[in-house]
Amino acid sequence: MSDDTKTPESASTGPETKPVTDWATDYDIFDPNYVENPFPIWDELRQRCPVAHSDRWGGSILPTRYEDVYAIAHDIEQYPSGGGIAVVPLLPPPDGEAASAPTGPALPQGVPPISADPPLHTWTRRLILPTLSPGRVREYEPYTRELCRRLASEIAQDGQGDGAAGYAQQIPVRVIGHLLGVPEEMAPTFTEWVRDVLEFAYDEERRTRGIQGILGYLHEAIAQRRATPHNDYLTKLLESEHEGKPITDDVVRGMCALLLIAGIDTTWSSIGATIWHLATHPDDRDRLIAEPELMPTAIEEFLRAYAPVTMARRLPDGGEYNGCPIGAGERILMNFPGANRDPEVFDEPDRVILDRQQNRHLAFGAGIHRCAGSNLARMELRVAVEEWLAAMPKFEIADPAGVTWAGGQVRGPRTLPIRVS
Ligand code: HEM
Repeated sequence: MSDDTKTPESASTGPETKPVTDWATDYDIFDPNYVENPFPIWDELRQRCPVAHSDRWGGSILPTRYEDVYAIAHDIEQYPSGGGIAVVPLLPPPDGEAASAPTGPALPQGVPPISADPPLHTWTRRLILPTLSPGRVREYEPYTRELCRRLASEIAQDGQGDGAAGYAQQIPVRVIGHLLGVPEEMAPTFTEWVRDVLEFAYDEERRTRGIQGILGYLHEAIAQRRATPHNDYLTKLLESEHEGKPITDDVVRGMCALLLIAGIDTTWSSIGATIWHLATHPDDRDRLIAEPELMPTAIEEFLRAYAPVTMARRLPDGGEYNGCPIGAGERILMNFPGANRDPEVFDEPDRVILDRQQNRHLAFGAGIHRCAGSNLARMELRVAVEEWLAAMPKFEIADPAGVTWAGGQVRGPRTLPIRVS
């Protein structure tokens, strides 16, 4: 196997974990080795035990072959999303008190469409898609470009900076805030809340803080829009109807919370991983500058190779996949990143090939829950790379020991010290 894309000179952020001795029976996706370099682990599992099981974090199975991940994603009857979606609990049960917003129970309908099955899934997804269509996304591009240009030129002028915290992390939160009508000065607060919910979900206190922050903010914002409508997506949702009735505030809150949670950490992880790749692979960096027409295939390749998102389906009553039992309340980890490295489907899966032609990657999932924000994510990633390379055609990692990766549900660099060369 080529190590071309492994991430050895790095540390991981995450919970304390007991060392793993057998990946087939006791894996832990928070294990620092898994966070830093999961690729050889998936290779081993694909050979030895393509659907692994672990009791950790409430129990789960981990498929590593493309074929299995794809099949599970499409079988919404046996593997629905309504029983719970996160790797470690993302949201409390409907009547959970711990993470309730200041104004009452958290979210009786979850965060649709991702946490829902049809029919709730169908109509809530329909309400989201027009706002994230290719045409609408083109309208958000000038704002995104101006933002990326400003951030990249600051780093270029300083001659150094953080490609993750100072660049990648700053982009999606502002773009989604712009779309939803969240003021720009709230961006750092939202970033922290989203990290609390996804990156620190294992820490009850931080998770609760993040959920309460997001839901509390949206509660106020909805009350404001009800009093004075704005020209934003939140107002538009409040004015929408389903079967002739206005949609409830709880559903609006859940959908907006999802857009924030699903659209921020994921996209910044992809942008950060791409900057990491270009910093550590100067040949690819120079080629992309010399042949900008490769940008569309290159973006798909970065998404494939560094797919950040591992979703999950929780089966309250248990079940099985291909003879592998799934205990009651256990999860299936939707290993989209592992599927993208399957040699049965991708030639030389561990190499980034900027002009890869066959690339049916699963970074955005598959089936009815396939990412509703993929047009937006692709635009953000492309513009972020274009503006970075325009401002800094030559750059490198300033301090390999200062690179950290977060893992678990969303994998990507969290600190990335860069020196402009
Ligand atoms: C590189 C960035 C992104 C990646 C890798 C990504 C990945 C994913 C994946 C794998 C799913 C499927 C989940 C499942 O099967 O349970 C998903 C769903 C979703 N994503 Fe994304 N996402 C990204 C960016 C975004 C953005 C920018 C938005 C919107 C602002 C967004 C909104 C959504 C929504 C609403 C769903 C739920 C769709 C449904 O259940 O029908 N995502 N995403």
